[in-house]
Amino acid sequence: MCGIFGYNGIEPDGVKKILEGIHRLEHRGYDSMGIAFLTGDKVECFKVAEDEKVGFDIKDLAKKIPNKKVICNIGIGHTRWATYGGKTVKNAHPHFSNGLFIVHNGNVENFEALKKEIDAHTLYSETDSEVIVKLIDKIFQDTGDLVKSIEKVMKMLVGANVILIMSKDHPGQLFAANKGGTILLGKSDSGVIIASDPSAFEGYHIIKKRNLETNEVAVIHSDFWDIIAKEVVTIEEDYLQDIDKNGCDFYMEKEIFEQGAVLRGTMSGRLILDKGNARLGGINEIARELRNVETFHFVGCGTAYNACSYATLLFNRFGISARAWIASEFCYSHPVFGPNDAFFFISQSGETADTIEVVEEIQIKGNICLGIVNVPDSRIARLTDAGVYIRAGKEKGVASTKAFTAQLVTIVLLAIYLARQRKMTIDTGMGIIEELILIPEKIEKVLKQKNSIKRLAEKYKEFKNYYFLGRYFNSVVAQEGSLKLKEISYMHAESYPLGEMKHGPLALIDPSFCSVVIIPNDSVHSKGVVNVREIKGRDGVVIAIVAEGNSFELADDIIEIPEIKPRYEYLYPIIATIPLQLFSYYMALELNCNPDKPRNLAKTVTVG
Ligand code: F6R
Repeated sequence: MCGIFGYNGIEPDGVKKILEGIHRLEHRGYDSMGIAFLTGDKVECFKVAEDEKVGFDIKDLAKKIPNKKVICNIGIGHTRWATYGGKTVKNAHPHFSNGLFIVHNGNVENFEALKKEIDAHTLYSETDSEVIVKLIDKIFQDTGDLVKSIEKVMKMLVGANVILIMSKDHPGQLFAANKGGTILLGKSDSGVIIASDPSAFEGYHIIKKRNLETNEVAVIHSDFWDIIAKEVVTIEEDYLQDIDKNGCDFYMEKEIFEQGAVLRGTMSGRLILDKGNARLGGINEIARELRNVETFHFVGCGTAYNACSYATLLFNRFGISARAWIASEFCYSHPVFGPNDAFFFISQSGETADTIEVVEEIQIKGNICLGIVNVPDSRIARLTDAGVYIRAGKEKGVASTKAFTAQLVTIVLLAIYLARQRKMTIDTGMGIIEELILIPEKIEKVLKQKNSIKRLAEKYKEFKNYYFLGRYFNSVVAQEGSLKLKEISYMHAESYPLGEMKHGPLALIDPSFCSVVIIPNDSVHSKGVVNVREIKGRDGVVIAIVAEGNSFELADDIIEIPEIKPRYEYLYPIIATIPLQLFSYYMALELNCNPDKPRNLAKTVTVG
C-alpha cells in the first residue's frame, strides 16, 4: 500500500515525470498525494488530500505547483493509503525534517516507542513516517553521515517498511532503504526511476532494473545506484506495455470486458489436448516432488482466498486432498500439516503482506512453497520455490476481476496436471480441456448482456441488503459476488452456501432483502431450487443466475449464462462470476461511486 515514486536523471521535466509516476501508482492508495523536488538550490513540496478536496486527483496536485515551467531533475512523490493518522494534508507525504524529505510505505509497529526517541512536541502530523524522518535527521545531525543514519533507523523499525529520501544537502542523490517491503530501481535512458511497483516504469525504456532487497540501502545517482551489487535482471518488457482504458470509462470496466482474451492467454501453450494434460513450465522441474505431495494447502486473501476455496473444491473433486486458508489467520490458528504437504500462495500482486507472512513461516518449516501470481518478479514470485503465472496482464482496477477468473483457469490447469500425475485418465483430461477452451467464448456471450445487467442494477439500486448464495462450486461465486458488491458500491452484502439459509440467515428475509442466487444446471440444482422456494416463501426478492434456456419462474429476475456439460460443472464459476462483476460495476455507477477508487481500499495491501 502507498505508492512511492522517485526520479533522479538528466532531463529537466522531473516534476512532470514524478506527477505521472504518482498517477500510475494511484491503485496503491488515494487518500492523499504529494511531491517534493529540488529546483536550483530550493526544495519545493506540495500536497493534496481528502480534507481539502473530496475526490481530488493528480490534476489537483499539479495545479498547486505555481511555476508551470519549473526545471527539475530530481524529486520524490507519494500516493497514500492511510494507516497512522487521517486522510489529511497534514498527514500527506513527503514528510520532512530540516532539509530531509521522505516518502514511506509500510507500518512502523513500534511507532509509540520510537516517538519517545524524538522531541514529540515537534511533530506536526500523526504519522509514523514523520517519526522516521525526524529520527534520521536527529542521527544525521550528530554523525554527519546520512547513509549510516538511514541504516541505523531502518534497523530500529519493527514491521515491513520502505523509504525514499531526498536531502537538500545531497543535491545529486536520492536514498532508498528497504526492510521487508518492495521497491524497484530502474535505469532508463533519461535517468533512474524508483518505484513501488513496475506499473510506474511505463513509458520509460528501462535498460536495467533491480529490486532493492531487504536490509539494503541504495544511494541513487542520475545514471545508476550504489549498493552491494547483486545480479541485475532485465525487466519483462511485455508487462511494461503502457495500458490505457481502451475507450472504457474505468479500468474495472476495461478489465471485465477483456476477460475472454485474458483467459485465452492464460491457457495459451499450456494445453496438451491429445495427452489430456496441461504443460506448466514453472513447476515442471519439481514434477517428481509434486507427485508425492499428500495435501495441497492454498493460501490467500480476499478475492485470492475465494480462488483458494475453489481450488480446494476442485482438487478434492479430482481425489486430491486440499485445504484453503485465509492468510491473515494462518499463523495464529495452529495449523496442522505434514512434511509431505505443499503450499500454493495465490496473489494477484504478489506483494500482499499477510500472504508473505505465511510464505516465510512455511519456508521455516521446509515445505514446498509455490506461487500462483500475476505480477512477474513480485515478492511472492521471488520467494516461492516455483509457480505458475496467471498471465492476466496488468490489473489496475482496485476490485479484482480478470485476475480472479485467470486464477480459476490456472487452478483448473494445475488440477489437471496434478490429477494426471495421480489417477485421472487421458480421456477425462481431454474432456475437461475440450470444455475449458470454450470458456472464453462463453464469457464473451455473457458480456453481451451488459445492457440488461445494467438495467437490473438500476432496478435494484434502492435495495440496501443482499445475500449472495450458491451451492458447491458456486458457493465460491457467491463469496466473490458479495465481496465485489460491498467493495465498490458499499452495499451490505453477505454470502452463504445456499443450503445454510435455513440455519439462520433466513431470519433476515423480507421484501426489502435481495438474494442473488447462482443456480445453473449442476448436480445440486434441484436441492438449490428447494432453498430458493424457502426464500420466496418468506417474500424475499431473488435474482437468479441460471443456465441458458431455464426460465426459472421462481425468481423475480434472471441472468442467463451459457450451459456447461454436467460432468464439467466445476467450470461454471469461471463464467458465473462475470454477471456479478457487471452487476457490481453498474451498481457502483448507479450510486455514483468511483469503481476504480473504492473508499478505504488499495490495490496492493502491503501492511499486515
Ligand atoms: C478484492 C481484492 C482484494 C485482493 C486481496 C489480495 O477485489 O482485490 O480482496 O484480492 O487484497 O490481493 P492479492 O491477490 O494481490 O494478494
